[in-house]
Amino acid sequence: MTTTATPYGQDHFGFATEQVHAGEIVGGDFGARITPIYLTAGFVFDSFDHAQARFAGEDGGLVYTRYANPTNAAVEAKLTALEHGVDSLLVASGQAAITVALLGILKSGDHFLSAPSLYEGSKTLFRENFARFGIEVEFVDDPHDIEDWRRRIRPNTRAIYGETIPNPKNDLIDIGQIAAFAREEGLPFVIDSTASTPYLIRPLDHGASIVVHSASKFLSGHGASLAGVVIDGGTFDWARYPDKFPQFNTPIGGAGSPTLVQKFGNTAYLEYTRTIIAGRLGPVLSPLNAFLLQQGLETLSLRVAQHSRNALTVARWLEAQPEVASVDYPGLPSNPSHAIARRYYPRGTGSVFGFTLHGGLADARTLIDSVELFSRMSHLGDVRSLVLHPGTTSHAHLSAEERDRLGIFPGLVRLSVGIEDEDDLLADLAQAFAALRATHASPVSVAVSELSGAELPLSA
Ligand SMILES: Cc1ncc(COP(=O)(O)O)c(C=O)c1O
Repeated sequence: MTTTATPYGQDHFGFATEQVHAGEIVGGDFGARITPIYLTAGFVFDSFDHAQARFAGEDGGLVYTRYANPTNAAVEAKLTALEHGVDSLLVASGQAAITVALLGILKSGDHFLSAPSLYEGSKTLFRENFARFGIEVEFVDDPHDIEDWRRRIRPNTRAIYGETIPNPKNDLIDIGQIAAFAREEGLPFVIDSTASTPYLIRPLDHGASIVVHSASKFLSGHGASLAGVVIDGGTFDWARYPDKFPQFNTPIGGAGSPTLVQKFGNTAYLEYTRTIIAGRLGPVLSPLNAFLLQQGLETLSLRVAQHSRNALTVARWLEAQPEVASVDYPGLPSNPSHAIARRYYPRGTGSVFGFTLHGGLADARTLIDSVELFSRMSHLGDVRSLVLHPGTTSHAHLSAEERDRLGIFPGLVRLSVGIEDEDDLLADLAQAFAALRATHASPVSVAVSELSGAELPLSA
């Protein structure tokens, strides 16, 4: 039961109103105002016949939390509304969301194309785990060159993949251009919007087919729990390509029965991904964690606006420091992605970005060890500001040459700028840079920093 008969998700209300109210369950037995945590594995059947009808999907009721749960459903409805989708599925983490979203489309023997700049965990998932399932990923060299995408299309290509604000290089892709290409080729475009959230961009409005998020990050904001979500735009025409996507186009219960598309229309993909992929593989989100995500979502716009403001201030400050060789923040006019940022991200470009120190590894180490307000952590999109050295952590498994090619230089430091007061963040960075300068003043340290210039591989 919701508080209003007016539908959410079609801009009947503003973003902030929808983030608070869309999907909420109000009332119940005690008049609870907040959607309760339905912490239950399953749901009672009234009778023998009732159980049979539920399993047959005849009364639309709930069966078991691995398939659906009221708390999760309320949060899914909120995310569907915020992203302008038709249906959503919550799962246990961002990695689970990416996995089930793609396994809803791909099978062994299939191939998919991806933008080259992605979260490193997605790349290893695709290159190593998906390869073991017989699914091949191919990364384009230049995501802005549509011919580079087109010439890699094969008879078994089944999807296009990318990220809105790639982590950590922030080298933005032109979502509308890639979505148009995917449409021409009859392929669904799956996009990870973790670093942007629907407050900064709604990829479905720009032609993407399916959106995934690590909801552990900005969507939750509190950093207390993991979650992931798959949101279906409902626009991809699965029925038009029965040979490419037989899972949606073969009778579900044998000859004469309807196909998934005939039965579920534009939510066929999400139904399949919920029931046959996530429901069987089992990476379900606990209703407790769905509740925590719900609490975070209610303040999403306020947090992301503050994150983006703070990040721009920090990026500008960093750009003015002589020790900094470059700042990978598209909100800066000097950044190569600035034109795309202006076109697609009028509200800001988030707060996860890298900057590279001239002094290489030694300076990165000193700086990271000197910050006090920033937490040294592998996480992002938290209300707290975080710092990480990708070269020796998230990207340490790559060769020095591969890291150099990706721009993950020894001097690269990644920030996830939080929502603290900007003066406090700048003061913390200023004292850390002062510590850095002090090491440069010492003759021994000068020799070390000269040895570890940005152009040297990490192993040097
Ligand atoms: C862009 C992006 N997608 C997905 C993930 C994976 O999310 P999770 O840690 O919730 O599995 C991350 C994690 O950092 C990420 O940055």
